[in-house]
Amino acid sequence: MKIIEAIDLKKYYTRGIETVKALDGVNFEISAGEIVAIVGPSGSGKTTLMNLISCLDNATQGVLKINGTDVTHLKEAQLIKIRRENIGFIFQQFYLIPTLTVKENIELPSIFANKKFPAEIINNTLKQLGLAGKENLPVKMLNSGDKQRVSIARALIDSPRLIIADEPTGKLENKVRDEILVIFKELAKRGIAIFIATHDLELAANADRIIHLQDGKIVSKAESDLYE
Ligand SMILES: Nc1ncnc2c1ncn2[C@@H]1O[C@H](COP(=O)(O)OP(=O)(O)OP(=O)(O)O)[C@@H](O)[C@H]1O
Ligand SMILES: [Mg+2]
Repeated sequence: MKIIEAIDLKKYYTRGIETVKALDGVNFEISAGEIVAIVGPSGSGKTTLMNLISCLDNATQGVLKINGTDVTHLKEAQLIKIRRENIGFIFQQFYLIPTLTVKENIELPSIFANKKFPAEIINNTLKQLGLAGKENLPVKMLNSGDKQRVSIARALIDSPRLIIADEPTGKLENKVRDEILVIFKELAKRGIAIFIATHDLELAANADRIIHLQDGKIVSKAESDLYE
């Protein structure tokens, strides 16, 4: 089952009279249960690609399918719907609300989605992430590993098919990084696709597959080494 399918995907920006080819004909697929890391030097197009897959922006050309739906030409309102129904997000900065409790932070997406998640789903998710017993603590009292666990729980609460993680281990110690990796592997076993942009080579090495970007194109590992 394909969760992401990109066919000759292009994103061009215009800067004055100049055209910046941020993505210049990218082809790849990510299946359910796969963990894929995307790496590449600054300016290679990682954020541009993440933004397209996150349904935050439209491609200039090509086709992008998320969970079978062609999102290439969708309008803002439809993109928001696809995003809510399919994608959970994890960020390096966590983006949690420090004064709210663990449970309140996890419930936040439900406020935006205008629906209430059953207590059982919330409790199961907390348990799964090793946060049982901490649900009523304000997030500001947690260490950074627990904060990232809360943000993973929040990403999972609406049963996404895809998790998009932007530098998820950037602010974490190695030990916690390994624990997050274990969590990712468990999620993948349940069929969730995980797409990670990272400079953390150890994390990337533990993915099922690495996509190397260079000047808006996917290159082989050997080619990418030429630039290091
Ligand atoms: N809104 C924009 N307008 C014009 N050019 C842009 C815009 N966003 C990105 N670019 C250009 O597109 C190219 C790819 O940028 P992108 O941010 O995707 O790279 P990146 O791989 O995420 O880099 P980094 O590792 O620094 O985060 C760069 O040349 C960048 O300057
Ligand atoms: Mg970037």
